[in-house]
Amino acid sequence: MIDTVKKFKIWIITIFPEYFRPLLDCGVTANALNGPNGLALEVNLVPLGNYTFQKYKGIDDTPFGGGPGMIVRADVLKNALDCGVVNAGNYGGSYRDKLHIVYTSPRGKVWNRDYCKEFSGRVWTENASRDLVFICGRYEGVDERFLQKYVDEEISIGDYVLTGGEIAVMAILDSALRYLPGVLGNRESSQKDSFEDYLLENGQYTKPREFEGVVVPEVLLSGNHKKIAEYHLAEKLALTKQYRPDLFLKFNKLSGKATQKVGNKSGKD
Ligand SMILES: C[S@@+](CC[C@H](N)C(=O)[O-])C[C@H]1O[C@@H](n2cnc3c(N)ncnc32)[C@H](O)[C@@H]1O
Repeated sequence: MIDTVKKFKIWIITIFPEYFRPLLDCGVTANALNGPNGLALEVNLVPLGNYTFQKYKGIDDTPFGGGPGMIVRADVLKNALDCGVVNAGNYGGSYRDKLHIVYTSPRGKVWNRDYCKEFSGRVWTENASRDLVFICGRYEGVDERFLQKYVDEEISIGDYVLTGGEIAVMAILDSALRYLPGVLGNRESSQKDSFEDYLLENGQYTKPREFEGVVVPEVLLSGNHKKIAEYHLAEKLALTKQYRPDLFLKFNKLSGKATQKVGNKSGKD
């Protein structure tokens, strides 16, 4: 359960701390962070705007060599790290061993189920010795010198460009928190979710039994657990083949099977 997880801090350096309110205030993530089990994790928002220098004022400046847009300054970020994280968290002079610093970036390793599970197991288990710091980029990005010197890991949430790193950090935290023991109850267990066995989830049904002339598949009403499990597996295979042929190939490869013969529910190729 969650009490086997050590007391763990997550620091988020961002120009827009208000972005994170839904993550901290709503649903499963809010329960994980604030609920009865929530003592193991603590999120601290570090507003980058509080760490600018009087002389220059801004968070960002124009790029050397020209080009469009503005770049987040390395010195302002370092000031936020030193004062907003290291001093505020009492990490002391050897803080590099105590913090794992993540920058969300289009050039980072692409986030998927395997990476998410590995990350979750690595960063907040009993053995993890470092608290997490997320740096949210903005504008055209962050001065390369800060990235090279202070960032331990760069994560992308996909091959497209967001206006800032906040949504990426929320996607990473939301998905990785689901692997933390105790965060999901039995009803929301991740074990049967899409991607867990390299297949998509089967279709799901609830009341009413008939909706606009379409009746719930008979087998699901049969009470025969073996038949239901077989039906679910067939559905998972068919849906994966239809929606994610790339994943279907991976499943076949990993399960060592010849290409599965499954029907295409839509009749489309
Ligand atoms: C407008 S983007 C900068 C894009 C940058 N000029 C480039 O071409 O790679 C601003 C910030 O959003 C975040 N960001 C954008 N796309 C992202 C993605 N796919 N994954 C993670 N973070 C992303 C990064 O922190 C980035 O510094």
